Amino acid sequence: MKKRLLILVLVSMVSLTGFAYDEGMWLPLLLKKYNEADMQAKGFRLTAEDIYDINHSSLKDAVVRLGGGFCTAEVVSEDGLLLTNHHCGFGVVQQHSTVEHDYVTNGFWAYTKEQELDNEGLTASFLVRIEDVTDQVLKQLDDTMSETSRSAKLKTIFDKIQKDATKDTDYTGEVKNMFNGNEYYLFVYHTFKDVRLVGAPPSSIGKFGGDTDNWMWPRHTGDFSMLRIYCGKDGKPATYAKDNVPYHPKKHLNISMGGYQPKDYAMTMGYPARTDRYLTSYGVSMAIDQTAPTIVKIRTKKLAIIKEGMDGDKAVHIKYVAKYASTSNYWKYYIGQRKGLLRLKVEDQKQAEEKEFAAWVNSGDAKRKEKYGKVLGDFESLYKDWRTYNLGRQYLNEAIFQGAEILSLAMQCQGLADSLAVKGHKEDNIKEQATKLRKSAAGIYKNYDVMTDKKLLAGLLKMYRDDVPKDQQADYLGEIESKYKGDYKKFAEEVFAKSMFCDSVKYFKFLSSPDAKTLNNDPAFKTISAIYKNYTAKYRPIFTSLDQRLEKDNRLLLAGLREMKPTKKFYPNANSTMRVSYGSVLDYNGADAIHYNYYTTLDGIMEKADSTNEEFIVPAKLKALYDKKDYGRYADNGKIRTCFITNNDITGGNSGSPVMNAKGDLIGIAFDGNWEAMSGDIAFDTELKRCINVDIRYVLFIIDKYAGATNLIKEMTLVDEIKN
Ligand code: ARG
Repeated sequence: MKKRLLILVLVSMVSLTGFAYDEGMWLPLLLKKYNEADMQAKGFRLTAEDIYDINHSSLKDAVVRLGGGFCTAEVVSEDGLLLTNHHCGFGVVQQHSTVEHDYVTNGFWAYTKEQELDNEGLTASFLVRIEDVTDQVLKQLDDTMSETSRSAKLKTIFDKIQKDATKDTDYTGEVKNMFNGNEYYLFVYHTFKDVRLVGAPPSSIGKFGGDTDNWMWPRHTGDFSMLRIYCGKDGKPATYAKDNVPYHPKKHLNISMGGYQPKDYAMTMGYPARTDRYLTSYGVSMAIDQTAPTIVKIRTKKLAIIKEGMDGDKAVHIKYVAKYASTSNYWKYYIGQRKGLLRLKVEDQKQAEEKEFAAWVNSGDAKRKEKYGKVLGDFESLYKDWRTYNLGRQYLNEAIFQGAEILSLAMQCQGLADSLAVKGHKEDNIKEQATKLRKSAAGIYKNYDVMTDKKLLAGLLKMYRDDVPKDQQADYLGEIESKYKGDYKKFAEEVFAKSMFCDSVKYFKFLSSPDAKTLNNDPAFKTISAIYKNYTAKYRPIFTSLDQRLEKDNRLLLAGLREMKPTKKFYPNANSTMRVSYGSVLDYNGADAIHYNYYTTLDGIMEKADSTNEEFIVPAKLKALYDKKDYGRYADNGKIRTCFITNNDITGGNSGSPVMNAKGDLIGIAFDGNWEAMSGDIAFDTELKRCINVDIRYVLFIIDKYAGATNLIKEMTLVDEIKN
């Protein structure tokens, strides 16, 4: 009875505001206007200005974007110490690992600042301010423009706004479209370029549960790692130098030792990368039929090949472990997404919304009909056209451009080949290109295994050849097929025997004085160049035109939806800009008769422990701490809580985001979503969608009791001690 009642209440809330409050990735700039009252009603004890204020320090100053937004991190000390996820720091941990110093397996801890490790290319950006520049942008556009001239025009408008906004500063500006191109916002960033590795637990803690538990609750993963921002002595961003100093940020988060109760207010801030919440039923249907199964099929093959190499050789394991993890992450995501879309009948939901929209259009005046009358039909025909090319497009992305690395290395030389083909080309220019190519190749070779890559080339090229309509493929692939009678292993053997790209010595020798003949005769270059040329000449224009039609239709549809529901609070799709999501700590019912509690404990790690399964090995030291109940100040009623769930609305890019309580203090680090709601990037299911977080006290317990890195604990500001 009670349950049913709750559902009714939720449903009526959904219909009043469009959706329940826990859905939504809100722009910090607009919190005051749209969310503050709602947040406070839900228990938030601060104000919108405490989150976003451009004149005083606010929570936004403690949340950073890593790189271009692959993850989020939060500042937790005066000395620029950052917390993020283990899977966010995994790439740099892997880069520093060798068979002798295997930080991936054993973890890494800096007990002094001198021991921290530098990471070329890793950046951390603070958000300085956001500005609504919609009027400025829209007044320079008009509805009759073609999409091509619109995007060219937008580029010049953006460039000017970005330049003006950052003049005489060391900031960078980015104008982003919001609400599918109906609004535009400027984001100004301060980017730091010396970000060092401070600590990471062993994979048996940071990735406990591995791919089996990935995207699932209940979870017991200690998914955290630590970095530190350094700057020049003048306090300004600088690339790595030994005498750079720790950066003193405007704000760092307090760490709550007080824990949480069910229904407690919980909030995340971070950089969600991409959602498709306004996708039409036609888009959902294509995702189910084509996109997801294609990506899964290709990745299944890739993973099997890589695993074979990793299992046989420790050095190959270290080289491929991060590549394997990122490939498998979205392999499993797409399996779950497809299942979720089907199980939750998302296509039907979308059709119902479209029906409502069509009815609204038809009930309107001539102007409304004229503006919106065609948009649904346009979507239908767009997706019909798209389906013809979608398979080939997914294959190019997954199996070719991100397939065998010998092809990626060779493809990087396409520009060089073009320059060499120009009569009277400048030697300086060639040299410059060669230097860049060498640098990029060195990064690839560091984690390269010839045997594995050879199998990837044979396996993925065969799949591409077999599955993609032949008339969409480069003719050269037909020639290869007949020459080798469909034996791609033989083809790969020959490519690897003759190509310079699988041998750094040969390739670097070529780069020291590049010549067109060597390049054009290289079998890897020949293959990828044929594919690439076929793509640029015939298919890129088609893909661009499909994308433009989609953009136009999306823009129009969302404009219409907002007009149709003038009182509903809409939020824009995620696009790697800072968002706030608020809700509460909350359990859920996963399926009939299955109720999931809102937190897990160290007991569960011991229950899952399996020394014969790489994913579930428990380090002896952790077991010893557990046996002695040596929990220090980190236990909650005698137990170490490992992970907990909230109904915050997050997605990829949010990884590492702070989870804060009503006072803005850190209670956890967000790291995943749950299996029952994997279609969440397309449709948020209020009943099922949860955000999985590592409990901050588990993080502290590992740093302190497991790693003995008390130096790091001392730097942080711990508040609200729990009395056990
Ligand atoms: N699903 C997590 C995310 O996308 C990543 C977890 C990484 N772990 C793994 N086993 N691949 O944020």
